[in-house]
Amino acid sequence: MSISIKSPREIELMRISNRMLAEMHLELAKLIKPGLPTSALDEAAAKFIKERNVESNFLNYEGYPASICVSVNEEVVHGIPSREKVLQEGDIVAIDAGIIYKGYHSDAARTYGVGQISPERQKLIDETRNAFFAGIKQARAGNHVSDISNAIADYIEPFGYGIVRELVGHGLGTSLHEDPQIPNFRQTRRGPKLQAGMTIAVEPMINLGRGDVEWLDDDWTVVAADGSPSAHYENTILITDGDPEILSLI
Ligand code: MF3
Ligand code: CO
Repeated sequence: MSISIKSPREIELMRISNRMLAEMHLELAKLIKPGLPTSALDEAAAKFIKERNVESNFLNYEGYPASICVSVNEEVVHGIPSREKVLQEGDIVAIDAGIIYKGYHSDAARTYGVGQISPERQKLIDETRNAFFAGIKQARAGNHVSDISNAIADYIEPFGYGIVRELVGHGLGTSLHEDPQIPNFRQTRRGPKLQAGMTIAVEPMINLGRGDVEWLDDDWTVVAADGSPSAHYENTILITDGDPEILSLI
């Protein structure tokens, strides 16, 4: 396993890529309302990306057919935007997206409620986001990857939610997925040591029910096996000698 340490120049490019992605997320969030087909979010993302002369890192990734992933309710991640899939009041919707700027990747996901949602679903969204922040408190040079994983698990377990184990966070830079993997569940091994200059995506995926998942026949969409709602929150961060820098949040 080799984990890349980014140079100051590379870090600046990662900052620009991720800041642009954060702006795109803010624009997409404004569109969410009952009656919107998920394809409209994909079209808006494609337009944003084209206007800035950058690229989507998801489009054509292992054959993925859209610019972003839009996952509704029991869909955990990698939902394919569709004209047939229309947002309904009470749904929760996760948008996962990434950009390539001058060869450097960004990756971030957010989950939103559509119109009025139940307090139970709102809490799932909020605690998934809080789990990310609990995890990155441990994302410091000298700590190990497992310190992040265990902090996320420690935060989530008391709520009785299911942590998705089959998908994990990851390093990123000149590729969307680099070493190391960043699991969101309890680790017995310490895993690699974190060093200043590493850039990683931390991305808890949390189900209201159990954490087990299945793949739909489209070979992309990951769903909660028990059909329970699922939330996803992700940012790209830079490891420093002090607090981590969240690159994809403005
Ligand atoms: N954003 C996902 C991740 O966090 C990757 C999506 S790949 C795609 O790793 F092809 F589904 F878009
Ligand atoms: Co990711």
